[in-house]
Amino acid sequence: MRIALPTPTMNTMNIEEFSKKLSEILSAAEKEFRLADSSHLAVVRAKFLGRKGELAKVMRALGSLPADVKPEAGKLANNTKQKLEKIFAQFEPQKISVHKKFDPTLPGRKPAIGGIHPLEWTLRKMVDIFYGMGFSVASGPEIETEYYNFDALNTPEDHPARDIQDTFYLQKPGYLLRTQTSPVQIRVMESQKPPVRIIAPGRCYRRDAIDATHYYTFTQVEGLYVDKDVTLADLKGVLTAFAKQFIGKNVRVRFRPHFFPFTEPSVEYDFSCPVCDGKGCRVCKGTGWLEISGAGMVDPEVFKTVGYNPDEVQGYAFGMGVERIAMVKFGIDDIRLLYENDLAFLEQF
Ligand code: DAH
Repeated sequence: MRIALPTPTMNTMNIEEFSKKLSEILSAAEKEFRLADSSHLAVVRAKFLGRKGELAKVMRALGSLPADVKPEAGKLANNTKQKLEKIFAQFEPQKISVHKKFDPTLPGRKPAIGGIHPLEWTLRKMVDIFYGMGFSVASGPEIETEYYNFDALNTPEDHPARDIQDTFYLQKPGYLLRTQTSPVQIRVMESQKPPVRIIAPGRCYRRDAIDATHYYTFTQVEGLYVDKDVTLADLKGVLTAFAKQFIGKNVRVRFRPHFFPFTEPSVEYDFSCPVCDGKGCRVCKGTGWLEISGAGMVDPEVFKTVGYNPDEVQGYAFGMGVERIAMVKFGIDDIRLLYENDLAFLEQF
């Protein structure tokens, strides 16, 4: 809040004007101090009492007054200065009184501390379980090339997943937001010799229409195991071991035949519904099973692409949708809740 002062013509003042000016300053100061909040008091003080403040400006005109009134004018000015100091002191916060108000018998205030987001909790738990089974953690970029996201994964140019409708392409030709964590398989195999046992947790992006089960971004945990004599039974074993640790010892895993360009044979796999134990309920929509994701035996074409000899090694790969698992775990029925950062929702965890 600024209050405009009439601009004085300082060099041609007489004693009356000088005195009037001083009282104007006083009343303006009083008003401003009263309106200023405490963080602003120092600014207001400088405006009136500072070296370039209002009072100093008037004092400068003192020299131009007739000699016989100078002493009186000096007195008036000093008087005004003292009054200004008094007004200021009146508004200055009283440190002592703050201490008086402190009541040590009151209970302490509980600071608000954050919790782990349900999605992050799920991801960490999944990584932990696979880590315990001997998988190490690998990662790759979220901005990927068409080569790693599609070509090297044996996904041809005319595959529907490559359509502009499904994938976020960047303006720079050949670049996209990865639609899956599977390209990390390629990056890992390119950089090391078999055996390989990794998981790759991370964000993926797809141009899905958003609804209760689809969002433009989501999280996957990719898994890859390459060694001699690896079979589909090993895949089922590791997925079952994971499900038992994550969900409980009664859970069952089933495979359904499917197709993925980078695995042969390919499967989709389901966990028996932990809510109804497979009998059928609202969570599993009466089927008794929860669809988790896809998996399969690494296609020999993929091995050739990364320079592995498909006659010497076999491997399995799988992907897991982390949101799906978090939603079942916490009874969340809308994926959007996991991304909207609504505190009323998040504070429940
Ligand atoms: N990348 C697939 C998807 O996003 C999931 C998947 C399927 C991953 C089979 C795999 C796999 O590693 O072998 O739909």
